Amino acid sequence: MERTYLMVKPDGVQRNLIGEIVSRFEKKGFTLVGAKLMIVSKELAETHYGEHKERPFFGELVNFITSGPVFAMVWEGENVISTARTMMGSTNPAEAAPGTIRGDYGVQVSMNVIHGSDSPASAEREISLFFHEQELNNYKKEVSKWV
Ligand code: PPS
Repeated sequence: MERTYLMVKPDGVQRNLIGEIVSRFEKKGFTLVGAKLMIVSKELAETHYGEHKERPFFGELVNFITSGPVFAMVWEGENVISTARTMMGSTNPAEAAPGTIRGDYGVQVSMNVIHGSDSPASAEREISLFFHEQELNNYKKEVSKWV
């Protein structure tokens, strides 16, 4: 069973999209194992987005993600890493398909509502950056047998 790190970005929190986003992943059949509203420090932002530090938008990205609370989450389920990325839609909301989160709610690439881990290695790294093991819950939902 896979786990992934998903984060409603500051624009999504400001636009009251936390509930809508959580609802989409719940209805899909995934299990929420950890969540918190938090301010990302500059240091955590620079570590999280470290692989992009040479890109021209790095400073803007760090400023944006630290500009207000984010809703950090860990979700569990079969193929949740790639399925969540499909549900999020393309990085640039202008290219994201209708029905995806970015396709439905985003306009600009710099404020694209949600982040999701792009591979098992990133998921492991990002979950441990944002959560302590004791903040993650191991439980089975009755509904899981129907998914
Ligand atoms: S991806 O999904 O990792 O392939 O996307 P990528 O294009 O590599 O972008 C990496 C993250 O940078 C954000 N991004 C930007 N922020 C500000 N301005 C511009 N122009 C810009 N282009 C990309 C993009 O949303 C990715 O953030 P995350 O949180 O990983 O989605």
